[in-house]
Amino acid sequence: MVLVKTVEELKKNLKALRKKGSLGFVPTMGALHSGHISLVNQAVRENRVVVVSIFVNPNQFNDANDLKHYPRNLDADLKLLEPTGCDIVFAPEAREIYPEPDTRKFNFGPLETAMEGKHRPGHFNGVAQVVSRLFEIVEPGKAYFGLKDFQQLAIINKLVKMLALPVEIVPCDIIREKNGLAMSSRNELLSVEERNNAAFIFETLTKAKNLAGTKNVNELENWVKENINKNPFLNVEYFEIVDFENLQPVKSWGDKGKKIGCIAVFCGKVRLIDNIVLN
Ligand code: PAJ
Repeated sequence: MVLVKTVEELKKNLKALRKKGSLGFVPTMGALHSGHISLVNQAVRENRVVVVSIFVNPNQFNDANDLKHYPRNLDADLKLLEPTGCDIVFAPEAREIYPEPDTRKFNFGPLETAMEGKHRPGHFNGVAQVVSRLFEIVEPGKAYFGLKDFQQLAIINKLVKMLALPVEIVPCDIIREKNGLAMSSRNELLSVEERNNAAFIFETLTKAKNLAGTKNVNELENWVKENINKNPFLNVEYFEIVDFENLQPVKSWGDKGKKIGCIAVFCGKVRLIDNIVLN
């Protein structure tokens, strides 16, 4: 495994490695945990060569404080990556990714107006900027994204279609802590007590899955919000039941297609997201 920090070094290393065969790519912002590592393991199983990027992308943070406090620990990340058998870790500075300010504006239509898009204006535009830049630099055959960031995955799929990029997007399952809390780099910012209470988010989502059908859609949405807000450590920003494909609000259980409940919750100052497929 080699660590490279510039686009030039990356391209030099990839020139030889590419000849080995298929190239898998896992973009991350570091502070790696078992969720990220499961993506890397899958990429290693399915490709001859694997690149992992670690880059805290300033363009996707709509809150300067969130960017400032985002956990960073390259040494610990490299220790976790070493045993996976990935080939290259690309950890660039911002000037490598954005030699000039990226002024591109993407229009993802209704995919970006709900949920994360509504509460984090500009976030998905920044994600699209960095992911398209990284794809341009790495030129992967397959790229791996977690279902934990469900709306992000939908945006990336749309981006690939819009720009006709020659890359296959591979969705990967959510990896959870033993107590059910979805793994996230942001969990590091929680106190032990907060982390224990944050497990109540998935506990409630699991109950909601069982209740789906017994309450109507709107009642279930309200029940989830009220139940989670009863926990003094938690404060729901949104919980929405949407269509799995187009992310549009579900009106009734009779609507056709798969349905998913997506949630954002503040645990103290830390914003956590999760989701559950409901049918
Ligand atoms: P980051 O939050 O570091 O996540 C990198 C990848 O790991 C994403 O595809 C995310 O969905 C996946 N992931 C995170 N936690 C997971 C979990 N518990 N189970 C499964 N997969 C998980 O998402 C980003 O970075 C950035 O937006 C990025 C795509 C790198 C662009 O900057």
